[in-house]
Amino acid sequence: MSVTVVETIAELRALLAGRSTALVPTMGALHEGHLALVARARSVADTVVVSIFVNPLQFGPTEDLDRYPRTLEADVAKLDAAGVDFVFAPQASEMYPGGAIDTTVTAGQVGTLFEGRTRPGHFDGVLTIVTKLLGIATPEFVLFGQKDAQQVYLVQRMVRDLNIDTEVIVVETVRENNGLALSSRNRYLDEWERRAALSLSTALEAASSASDRGIDAVLAAAQSVFTGEDLVTLDYLAVVDPGTFLPVDDDYRGPARVLIAARVGQTRLIDNQLVHLGG
Ligand code: PAJ
Repeated sequence: MSVTVVETIAELRALLAGRSTALVPTMGALHEGHLALVARARSVADTVVVSIFVNPLQFGPTEDLDRYPRTLEADVAKLDAAGVDFVFAPQASEMYPGGAIDTTVTAGQVGTLFEGRTRPGHFDGVLTIVTKLLGIATPEFVLFGQKDAQQVYLVQRMVRDLNIDTEVIVVETVRENNGLALSSRNRYLDEWERRAALSLSTALEAASSASDRGIDAVLAAAQSVFTGEDLVTLDYLAVVDPGTFLPVDDDYRGPARVLIAARVGQTRLIDNQLVHLGG
């Protein structure tokens, strides 16, 4: 193995000193979506660091923190094969000594919408850990997947608002051939749920096909895909302005992002797609 697994902040800092680095923050249970971020990271910087940390701060009290898949050995093997230099895999006590920290980052109004409405405090937790990781690795580049569109928007805005000296690179969503967006949570799905989960990407395709006819047509087209899908409970379906991440007005024309979140059985999945609203 040529990858080095690092568990302490002090050791990572020492190893990265003087290097131009690209950081890929993850929670592990790695799949081809994560590896697309790694491949992009390798193309932009000499040194690639992947962090693997299931961040307790971004999970609500009733969420899947304890159940979240932890597959460190397999993850490290994948990252070694992908040519990653360092895996930063700290214990929770290294990141949150004493069990908690007093200073946190707040995500503002957009952080309370969509994912933030269903998962209160989630984005404060995400932005806080991302800030910590950026402070530890001080990377020239940091990479995120478009799959988590609201996370991307909020991280980009935080980096701007707080003048953090890093360049955010966004990588397109990696999907299975059938359209299903890769997600660490897909492994919770049984055979029937996997099939039902396709309704998210199918709805986004339907939305995209209707986009010439305006927002009402987009919403109706996406919504109709869920009719009769007994295993799927839609959480939200929304169309937002990419610049503000707020819902677009009825007469909006131009680029927009369609967001979907749904529970498939017990598993919560999200997906999104950029469309061009015309009509
Ligand atoms: P995690 O869910 O492990 O995702 C790590 C990164 O991989 C995120 O940037 C996510 O958008 C990206 N990703 C996941 N699935 C993808 C797919 N199908 N295609 C492309 N990229 C994909 O997101 C998190 O972890 C955490 O919130 C984190 C940023 C690490 C903070 O704890």
